[in-house]
Amino acid sequence: MKNEIKIFSPATVANVACGFDVLGFCLDSVGDEMVIRKIDKKGIYITKIEGGFDLPYETELNVAGVSALAMYDAAKPNCGFEIEINKKIKPGSGIGSSAASAVGSVYGMNELLGRPYSKTQLTEFAIKGEAIASKCEHADNLAPALFGGFTLVKSISPIQILEIPSPDDLYATIIHPQIEVKTSEARAILPKEVSLTNAITQWANFGSLIHALHTSDYDLIQKSLHDVIVEPYRSQLIPHYNEVKTAALNAGALGAGISGSGPSIFTLSKGIESAKKVADSIKNVYSKTGIAFDIHISKINTQGVKKI
Ligand code: HSE
Repeated sequence: MKNEIKIFSPATVANVACGFDVLGFCLDSVGDEMVIRKIDKKGIYITKIEGGFDLPYETELNVAGVSALAMYDAAKPNCGFEIEINKKIKPGSGIGSSAASAVGSVYGMNELLGRPYSKTQLTEFAIKGEAIASKCEHADNLAPALFGGFTLVKSISPIQILEIPSPDDLYATIIHPQIEVKTSEARAILPKEVSLTNAITQWANFGSLIHALHTSDYDLIQKSLHDVIVEPYRSQLIPHYNEVKTAALNAGALGAGISGSGPSIFTLSKGIESAKKVADSIKNVYSKTGIAFDIHISKINTQGVKKI
C-alpha cells in the first residue's frame, strides 16, 4: 500500500443565498494542495505549511490537524501521519479555506488506510476541525468539498448529507476582495431569531432552488437565489457589495450573494460566456475601489477532493 498521497482539496461556496448553513457547492478552479504521509512514529504532525499565511503548526490548533486527530482517535492505526499544506485558499476568504484543510487531511489519511470510512464519516471527523475556525459546527463547506457538486446538509447530528444534481451549464463567478472577514465574527452579528414572514420567504426560495437544481430550470434558479435573512446583516461587512451584485445581475447573472460568511461574493450564470461577462462587470466595479481582489470562474466541480 502507498505511504504518501498528494491531493487537491477544493474551495467551496456555502449558503448559496437562501440555504444558510445547509447548502453548498464545490469549485474546481481554486483549492489547497496537501501531501499526507504515513510514518512509523505514532501521532499527527503538521510538517510544512506553504502559502505565506500565519497558520499554526501545533496539531491541536490547526484545522487540518484537529480533523486528522478526530479520525486518528477513532481509527487507532498502528502508524502516524505527516501533513503538508500548500495553502492556496486564503483564510477568511469565504470560499471554504478551513473546510478544505479539514477535508484534505481526513481524505488523505482514509485513502492511505485503505478507505475504512465513508464520506459521511469523514464529514464527522472534518467538522471537528472546521469548528475551531468558526467556533461552531457546520458542514455546508465540508460536504461539497468531500462529495463534490451541490450538497444539502440535512442534519449534523447525526451527519446526513444529500447530494443535489448540478445543471451542466451552471458556472460560478466569484470575487474575493482581499480583506478578511472572520466566520466567527460574521456569525456573531446575526440575529438569534427571524420573523415568520422572512422564514416563509426563505424556505420557499430554498425549496424552489433545490427543485430547480434537480430539473435544470435556470429560470427558477434565478427566481430562487434570494436571501432575506442573512444578507441584510452581513452585506454591511463587504465593501461595495450592492454595487457588485447589481453589476452582476445587469450583466446577466442568474443571481448573486455572499459566499459563505464573506467577503467573497458568488454569482451563478448559465454558460461560460455569461460567467465571463459577469466577471468583467464585477472587475469594472472593484478596480475603481482601490481594494485588491481575485476573480475565479469555475464550473461546478462534481468530484470534490481528489488525488493528484
Ligand atoms: N454557513 C457558514 C456561515 C459558512 O455562513 O457562517 C461559513 O463559511
